[in-house]
Parts: sequence; structure tokens; C-alpha cells
Amino acid sequence: MGFMSKNGLVINLVLFLGLTLCTSLVFGGNFYQDFEVTFGDNRLKRFGKAGNLLTLSLDQVSGSGFRSKKEYLFGRIDMQLKLVSGNSAGTVTAYYLSSEGATHDEIDFEFLGNVTGQPYTVHTNVFTQGKGGREQQFRLWFDPTEKFHTYSVLWNPSMIIFLVDNTPIRVFNNHEAKGVPFPKTQPMKIYSSLWNADQWATQGGLVKTDWSKAPFTAYYRNFNANPDHASATTAFTSGASQSQVLNAWNRRRLRWVQKYFMIYNYCTDVKRFPQGFPVECKF
Ligand SMILES: *[C@@H]1O[C@H](CO)[C@@H](O)[C@H](O)[C@H]1NC(C)=O
Repeated sequence: MGFMSKNGLVINLVLFLGLTLCTSLVFGGNFYQDFEVTFGDNRLKRFGKAGNLLTLSLDQVSGSGFRSKKEYLFGRIDMQLKLVSGNSAGTVTAYYLSSEGATHDEIDFEFLGNVTGQPYTVHTNVFTQGKGGREQQFRLWFDPTEKFHTYSVLWNPSMIIFLVDNTPIRVFNNHEAKGVPFPKTQPMKIYSSLWNADQWATQGGLVKTDWSKAPFTAYYRNFNANPDHASATTAFTSGASQSQVLNAWNRRRLRWVQKYFMIYNYCTDVKRFPQGFPVECKF
């Protein structure tokens, strides 16, 4: 009826403040506090007192990059990116999680630019114990240079889910029981960089970077790391925590992406694996 008792109002206020506080704790990304420059010096810029916008740029001399100060072992990592617009051929924007050392684990997103009007390629990979070679590539269902979109990694002990605007585009399941290593002991940092790869990135290196358009700029905002992987996972899965599988809605979303937007899958590349596909491809 729109009427609220004084107590009700107080309770609501307390709830509201509580929620706001929690939100600012969980969604506390600050590019000054949470990240450090890895290369490119002042080609990396941070904006605002709260430091929630960051830009990387690339010119003929250098690209630029950053990494998180903290390490994460499981959790949900979100970043909003607006990719290099116009003629971005030859540029690669990488956004990934990685541990260190020869037997490192890594969870990759890479965005390969293209000539004006042609689509980006989203390249994904998973390294475990130093071994990668698990590429899947996608197109996007929107222009990633026009607005910010959220790219996330949801990583728990039984699966890694790659998300684009909360839609799963790829799931890498834990198949340790079948002898496939799974990242679960080495904490990872979050990395991002913008660099030039016109040797190979665009149409196999045929299209070179147009340096007259430099500097190229990619935009980042609303970084968030939620270490509570269990609660972050429940929105996507059903079933007992031991045997997590995507719920029906997310399985449908994933199938939609795989059907219409997947352009490469190592698990179906017969030429590459004439002796048979890697173990994890069989499940
Ligand atoms: C660029 O556009 C062409 C033509 O649509 C396409 O074949 C290619 O895969 C696109 N992506 C990259 C990274 O070259």
C-alpha cells in the first residue's frame, strides 16, 4: 500500500546500507590500488579519483600493459572492455589470468583486431602445467568497439567458464580423473596488454597495422574480483557441488554461441590431431 512503519523504514535503511557496503566491498575495483603497469609507461592511463577507468594505448614504439597486484585462486573476475575501434588490424588486446613458472596455468582471452567493418576474433585458451594448445575462437554477436561489454572468467575447482556479458561461451571442465591436469593449486594474477602482432594476427599476417591511425586505444572499467567462487557459480549451474554442470538455460546459451559464433575449436581440428583428439575433447 506504499505505507511503511518507522521500523520498516529503519530496517530497510539498514538493509540498503548493508547492501551498498557489501557491493562496494565486492565490487571494489580500483585501477590505482589493484593494478600495476607492466610495460608502456604513460601509454597506460587511469582516470577518476576512484580509478575505475583505465586506457591502454599502442603506438609504433610500444604497446602497454598492466597486471593485478593480488593473486587469485578461484573466483569470478569481471572486466568491462571497449576494444580498439576503426582499423584495428594487427592489434591484439589480451586479457588473461596466469600463474608463473615453466609449469604455469593460464586462462586466456585475446581479441584480435581487424580492418574497419570486419569482425574481431575472440581467441581463448587454457594452459595447465605449462601446456596450452586448447584454442577456441569466436565471433561476437555485437560490435565490441562501440560500447563496453563484460568479459569474465569464472573459475572453481571443477570448471572454468568463459563469459561474455554473462553468456557462457566456453567451459573447460576438470578431467583430472582422466589424467588431464586442471588449474587448482597455483594462484594467478590478472594481466592485460595491448600490443602489435601484425606478423600473424590479422588474416594470418597479410593485413598490416595502419600506423597512420596510431595511437590505438582500448578502454577498461568496472574491474571486479569475487573470490567467493561457490556463490558466483550457483547462477550458472545445477547439481551437487561435486558434479557441477551448467543449468538448462546456460547450456542453451552455450550451444547458441557454439553453433553460431564459434569459428575454431581444437577439439574438432582433425588435421591437427590425426592420432586422435586430446582426452578432454572426448567428454
Ligand atoms: C577479419 O575479417 C575477415 C573477413 O571478414 C575474416 O576472415 C577474419 O577472420 C577476421 N579476423 C581476423 C582476426 O583477421
